[in-house]
Amino acid sequence: MKHNEINMDGINALMEIFYEKIRADKSGLGEIFNARIGTDEPSWDKHKAKIASFWQGMLLGSGDYNGQPMKAHLELPPFKRKLFGAWLGLFEESLNIVFEPQIAEDILNKARGIAQRFEYMIFEAH
Ligand code: HEM
Repeated sequence: MKHNEINMDGINALMEIFYEKIRADKSGLGEIFNARIGTDEPSWDKHKAKIASFWQGMLLGSGDYNGQPMKAHLELPPFKRKLFGAWLGLFEESLNIVFEPQIAEDILNKARGIAQRFEYMIFEAH
């Protein structure tokens, strides 16, 4: 059954599905992530837990995420701008597996807003 409300079960399920797609991705995204995070399970478990707490903060207003997402992305090695489209595509596919359409759409819109800010800072704000 798809989730029709946002809770940690749904957020954790989203992390599993999304990062499984990311790790297997061949468009260039997979390479960036695997180079930065590693390919072993403990490293990915740590990453998924961190990003789950990021979304917990964004979507539920709770949790203890206190990282600097913009900085983390500005420090990535150069990559093609179109990878933002690929990221959002995989995120949308994953959202649609986990959540009912209205919730999937709300979360996707939040992700699009953040992606736009990252993209702007990386590719335009020189
Ligand atoms: C092309 C698009 C993207 C790429 C290639 C990318 C790649 C990465 C990588 C490799 C990391 C790990 C950095 C590290 O641990 O050193 C990371 C961290 C992170 N990403 Fe992305 N990302 C993308 C888009 C996004 C978007 C759109 C969001 C949010 C909606 C997001 C949220 C995060 C967060 C919260 C972290 C953790 C930052 C921290 O506190 O360390 N990313 N990303």
